[in-house]
Amino acid sequence: KIPIIIDCDPGIDDTMMLTLAFARPELDIKLVTVEAGNLTIDKTAYNTLSFLSYIKEDKVEVALGLEKPMFRVQEVAEDIHGEGGLGNVKWADPTFEASKRPAIQAMYETLMTAQQPITIVATGPLTNIAALLLAHPEVKPFIKEISWMGGAAVGGNMSTVAEFNAYVDPHAVELVFRSGVPVIMSGLDVTHKAYITREEMNELSHLGTDFAKKVAEMMNFYTFTQSQTPFNAPDFEKQIRVHDVCAIACLIEPTMFTGDDYFVEVELEGRLTQGTTLVDYAKKTGKTPNVHVLHSVDRAAFITCFFDAITTIGKK
Ligand code: BDR
Ligand code: CA
Repeated sequence: KIPIIIDCDPGIDDTMMLTLAFARPELDIKLVTVEAGNLTIDKTAYNTLSFLSYIKEDKVEVALGLEKPMFRVQEVAEDIHGEGGLGNVKWADPTFEASKRPAIQAMYETLMTAQQPITIVATGPLTNIAALLLAHPEVKPFIKEISWMGGAAVGGNMSTVAEFNAYVDPHAVELVFRSGVPVIMSGLDVTHKAYITREEMNELSHLGTDFAKKVAEMMNFYTFTQSQTPFNAPDFEKQIRVHDVCAIACLIEPTMFTGDDYFVEVELEGRLTQGTTLVDYAKKTGKTPNVHVLHSVDRAAFITCFFDAITTIGKK
């Protein structure tokens, strides 16, 4: 089994990422940590605890992390995910509470006591991970790699040149990129190719489970709100992008994706371009690659993997 720690900010697509993670027997989920991102931390924490309760995964430790980005003024994405963060969907109230250990302590202790290096899957702004690496640099050899959804080699969804997670806490992202820990970046370059069509989404209704119905509801909401943002292509209404799912999918089915190693750094000073992830595609900087940047995905295989997970979780 692949031991993992998940760091997230649910959020509609984070919830879909958790769905795939908890559906797959190859993963050994040691810990889930939560941070602010799509919403303030009270909401991301509630959404994590209530979703895990709904899918009967209340034995996993959920630890709460940081409430604000390192330096930037906090920005959330309620316009995309809804006020509660899951469109109009509500799970039942949580059946368990967050851990007494704060996220950084829980990650540190989990990593230092593990039998083998652990993979961190991060689908938020990376604030928790940067804080962990700053506070406890000795954990680095115990992290196998960090699979992060965020950034973009080309384009953005928060500004024309910055993806949301990188825009929200660029300093955290840069710290992680400079840490020496291997990073896989599922940026918009690949997540925009891992889309689901409306027709495919409609098939969910045939699954007949309460869960599939709720997923379809969330997706409808998400598609609509995403289509209202100025950075989206006209086909956006028809292409539902579940970004965060890629950060798990690339671990369990790596052959589904292609990518390459590049030197990547984050714009921290630009007046208008903060959070741009500059991928040295031309390899002109002469700097050693620090990030494995994914650029394409076998969409059909991705859909099968994702829908199988919805079926599996729906039967729990
Ligand atoms: C990322 O931003 C968030 O809104 C999503 O959850 C995802 O992590 C996509 O840019
Ligand atoms: Ca997210």
